[in-house]
Amino acid sequence: MENMYQEHNHALLFLGGKMENKVALITGASRGLGKEIATIFAKNQINVIINYLYSKKEAIQLANTLEKKYLIKALALKCDISSEEEVKEMIQTIKQKFQRIDILINNAAISNDSIFLDKTKEDFLKIMETNLLGPFLVSKYASKIMEKGSIINISSTNALDTNYPYSADYDASKAGVISLSANLAEELAPNIRVNTVAPGWIKTDMTKDLDLEFMKQEEKKILLNRFADPKEIAEVVYFLTTDEASYINKSVIRVDGGYRG
Ligand SMILES: NC(=O)c1ccc[n+]([C@@H]2O[C@H](COP(=O)([O-])OP(=O)(O)OC[C@H]3O[C@@H](n4cnc5c(N)ncnc54)[C@H](OP(=O)(O)O)[C@@H]3O)[C@@H](O)[C@H]2O)c1
Repeated sequence: MENMYQEHNHALLFLGGKMENKVALITGASRGLGKEIATIFAKNQINVIINYLYSKKEAIQLANTLEKKYLIKALALKCDISSEEEVKEMIQTIKQKFQRIDILINNAAISNDSIFLDKTKEDFLKIMETNLLGPFLVSKYASKIMEKGSIINISSTNALDTNYPYSADYDASKAGVISLSANLAEELAPNIRVNTVAPGWIKTDMTKDLDLEFMKQEEKKILLNRFADPKEIAEVVYFLTTDEASYINKSVIRVDGGYRG
């Protein structure tokens, strides 16, 4: 049979050109939360596509580590999720190499903190293009090759609370992500479940330059008195994609350690 082969030293099994293990595409997986999400999927024998934009070395290194450690297939793919052409190309490459996508995690995002009056139209659009247009484009082209599965969009508690004053653009984009998720859940049911995870503060590069005093004040507002380790969010994301979460759909799951804004 054409394309039929098995790699005995590898957990991969191709039969009649179809990959047997599940395939997860995680956007922005070179660093931070996305990296942890990719690691948890790999640990659970799911093949991972590690999308990145600038962090090529980190993405390739992660793919190599996950392949060796968990005997799955991991591929680092460069794609600016705000570019329709690049998204189309990325999905085409995945289709050629993996034939399928079972899980999509729209994780990649950027922030640019400043007071509202200092933000330009260009600043605002840049955030929207990455954080809202990006998940729209990736969901659109990925869902065309998803027969059955799960999409998780990463929003933020900023979309719900607006306790932090320097991110009008980011907060609006993350509120849009919640709405986008709900609409996708409607359109892609019953074969694809779509949920949103809204984390509170996480220890990643996105928060590493926060003023120390401000961080301390924020920690006091969290019942658990600390920012999340990315793993604590990634575990929830993974759970939502499993059969154990088969009846969770069109939901927004808040993971913020108990924040009293
Ligand atoms: N950190 C927090 O406190 C916090 C709180 C709530 C929600 N979140 C959300 O959690 C998610 C992950 O955040 P994080 O803290 O892990 O961020 P991070 O450490 O800054 O990492 C961002 C990731 O997104 C990628 N990325 C950025 N722009 C991209 C683009 N146009 N195309 C493709 N990839 C792109 C980056 O890739 P390169 O490095 O390759 O450019 C990187 O892998 C985001 O959706 C964020 O909004 C974070």
